Amino acid sequence: MKRILLLIVCVTCTAVYGQKFAGLAPTPPMGWNSWNKFACDVSEDLIRQTADAMVSTGMKDAGYQYVNIDDCWQGQRNSQGFIQPDSKRFPSGMKALADYVHSKGLKIGIYSDAGSKTCGGRPGSRGHEYQDALTYAQWGIDYLKYDWCNVEGLKAEGAYLTMRDALYSANRPIVFSICEWGNSQPWTWAGKVGNLWRTTGDIYNCFDCKMDHGTWVSWGAMQIVDLQKGLREYAGPGHWNDPDMLEVGNGMTANEDRAHFSMWCMLAAPLIAGNDLRNVSEETLRILTNMEAIAVDQDALGIEGFQYSSQDFIEVWFKPLSGGAWAMCLLNRSGRPQKIEFDWKKEKVMDGFSKREAGFDTTVYGLRDLWAKKDIGTTAQMLDVEVPAHDVLMLRLSKQ
Ligand code: GLA
Repeated sequence: MKRILLLIVCVTCTAVYGQKFAGLAPTPPMGWNSWNKFACDVSEDLIRQTADAMVSTGMKDAGYQYVNIDDCWQGQRNSQGFIQPDSKRFPSGMKALADYVHSKGLKIGIYSDAGSKTCGGRPGSRGHEYQDALTYAQWGIDYLKYDWCNVEGLKAEGAYLTMRDALYSANRPIVFSICEWGNSQPWTWAGKVGNLWRTTGDIYNCFDCKMDHGTWVSWGAMQIVDLQKGLREYAGPGHWNDPDMLEVGNGMTANEDRAHFSMWCMLAAPLIAGNDLRNVSEETLRILTNMEAIAVDQDALGIEGFQYSSQDFIEVWFKPLSGGAWAMCLLNRSGRPQKIEFDWKKEKVMDGFSKREAGFDTTVYGLRDLWAKKDIGTTAQMLDVEVPAHDVLMLRLSKQ
């Protein structure tokens, strides 16, 4: 009898713990996060105004859903150990803020850290995981980014499993964003733990540079693309590689922003804008809300693209899309415009991972330029184009 009871208890345990919420993030999450532009300068006014701007700019209609507060929202823990928001910056409290964001038809995200303190020196969740998860659930939080500073000897997989189980037991579906910078190869274990995991250190707001901060390095958009090599087979619906948040609108040229955004779409990356949406240029909005590029990112197959060729600063990337279609991106990494001739008849795309292939000698595809938003012929004629410096030609190939 005792044994049967134990068995029932154990079965219930694994039903409640040891899993993540099903059906969250079937396509890469889309939203906004405060860090890239505002760092620690967050407040409820910023979040409310950003939620308003998400609606008024058309970002919401384009599919952006999450308004995420990054580091530095925290005040102290109360006498029972429950975390309180910084009362100067968030005087109305998090529940009221979540209600406001929800009233706009959007979702709200928050940030914590597996260690004793966050990277910004605020209280971390170590030893308070279940309390924090419960608090977030009570506030109505929909997304948690969980960082990796001040972890003194913790093992990543175990620490993230603890928070996953805490979220699960708090019983509110919360997208779980793992942020340990790829240190312990999260792609090998994080699929069952979270919905997305950072693959690299922080992005730096440049097209092609590297910033050495002494004890850590941050990476330009192109360096991050290079660091994704070999990772595509680990991602798919519900579990995504995260090459970090977007820098579109934060100072790169429009060409560079377009190339950065296009490559994130080719990588089926989470699209988390990181600019000031309250003051956004038409040009930046045109990039962030290009529905045809977004459709590549959000394609239901959820298969990351891959580099097909690389020569003289020109990279050709392909991404299998549903319905037998492909996305193709010709990326010009050089500082000069480049003429590119792509003779379809001599090319054959074979992707062992998706088991898809495109033989252009036997199948003719129609070509759609996703930035010019026009059809530009078919694969029956050689592609002969000039791609501006630090820019892309991004195409959708559909069977004729
Ligand atoms: C780390 C993360 C960043 C950001 C900061 C906040 O560096 O990788 O994305 O969340 O911490 O302090």
